[in-house]
Amino acid sequence: MHIVHIAVEMAPIAKVGGLGDVVTSLSRAVQDLGHTVVVVLPKYDCMNLSNVKDLHHRNSFAWGETEISVWFGKVEGLPVYFLEPKNGMFSVGCIYGRSDDGHRFGFFCHAALEFLLQSGFRPDILHCHDWSSAPVAWLFKEHYIYYGLSNARVIFTIHNLEFGVHNIGRAMTYADKATTVSQTYSREVAGNPAISPHLHKFHGIVNGIDPDIWDPYNDQFIPVPYTPENVVEGKKAAKEALQQKLGLKTSDHPLVGIITRLTVQKGIHLIKHAVWRTLEHNGQVVLLGSAPDSRIQNDFANLASELHSSHGDRVRFCLTYNEPLSHLIYAGADFILVPSLFEPCGLTQLIAMRYGSIPVVRRTGGLYDTVFDVDTERERAQAQGLEPNGFSFDGADSADVDDVLNRAISAWFDKREWFHSLCKRVMEQDWSWNRPALDYMELYHSARNKTS
Ligand code: ADP
Ligand code: GLC
Repeated sequence: MHIVHIAVEMAPIAKVGGLGDVVTSLSRAVQDLGHTVVVVLPKYDCMNLSNVKDLHHRNSFAWGETEISVWFGKVEGLPVYFLEPKNGMFSVGCIYGRSDDGHRFGFFCHAALEFLLQSGFRPDILHCHDWSSAPVAWLFKEHYIYYGLSNARVIFTIHNLEFGVHNIGRAMTYADKATTVSQTYSREVAGNPAISPHLHKFHGIVNGIDPDIWDPYNDQFIPVPYTPENVVEGKKAAKEALQQKLGLKTSDHPLVGIITRLTVQKGIHLIKHAVWRTLEHNGQVVLLGSAPDSRIQNDFANLASELHSSHGDRVRFCLTYNEPLSHLIYAGADFILVPSLFEPCGLTQLIAMRYGSIPVVRRTGGLYDTVFDVDTERERAQAQGLEPNGFSFDGADSADVDDVLNRAISAWFDKREWFHSLCKRVMEQDWSWNRPALDYMELYHSARNKTS
């Protein structure tokens, strides 16, 4: 099958959050199954082009009162076409955050379809993502279906309903099939007016992670390669390297890592509470996060200076985006905390497990589908063919965070052997795309078998 993703993020060259990870890792998994997968992206000036192999200019075409240069290169082994309009639309120093985002992405979607048509592509599947490439669905069904691309079917994936719900509603109407990134989130949003008329074609498929990109046995950012067999030794070395790098005390404390966009979605009041509670438990905290909203960024910067002066040897806030540091935190932490108020899927809990760190999560969306509490959810885990793999909580109060951290940190202090076997167990669980990529293939096939 021939699949084209039209997207505005792609890890590692243009990543803001998990959407970028998914475009790359789902595409790689489907390519590994023997299909042809191509990605079309805007060519931003803020892209990290050192991660593009053999980048070269292919051709140009005139469209939308400008000239569009087409570049081609490989990213993580995937063929990628980059569209660069001469009018400088994507040379604005960022991917999102401007008042003209909607206009720019609408332009990109239209240009991407025009590029595919003019270049003679005849894909079986056009896969678009979130509000930013949602316009592909209706542009295709209202215009391009009448031209040479007529054989294609449109798949639309919602990664987060919080943004651009108007665009999402229109894409839901036009897409042949729609997905979101976990089953629980698909149920949570089923009543939304943008979704509810389309439940017959709406599916929840949980995300995976790419085991080659997130691989503690082959990770240039951690000191000792490890597998489940030497997880204790590998994580000990990573924790020491992390503590040294950040100037924390190197004695053995339970270390809670938090790696996140700092937005309301991610439960920032719960994060703050968890930091204090962990310190009270004689633990350490490393938070790596950046806030698109400057008020939240300033708030955390103030908290950081307060904490760095009162508990400087046990807490560090790194209020930035830093991919290499994220790897060292995943490896060096004992726990990765994800107390999101809502979470369509969440990747950090999955990456945590790949690195033998124990997820501590709020029971919502994809966090509920992937984390099973060691004290209370053995049966639910076993119904999925799994053993429990973390700590989780309901509610959104400080008392709920207190309870979950009491349980998690007490287990670390009091049942160390058991804790180490839990680290080994979570590493052995398969949260790759092996299963979900097959689900996507089934969906692509059913879209193709659809007659309309
Ligand atoms: P979302 O897409 O809502 O931000 P996900 O959990 O799906 O949440 O994906 C987040 C991705 O971004 C993960 O790959 C995580 O490691 C990465 N990430 C988040 N914040 C940072 C940061 N400050 N520095 C580096 N990586 C980050
Ligand atoms: C969104 C969601 C996150 C999900 C990611 C990838 O950004 O907030 O839960 O994991 O997309 O699908």
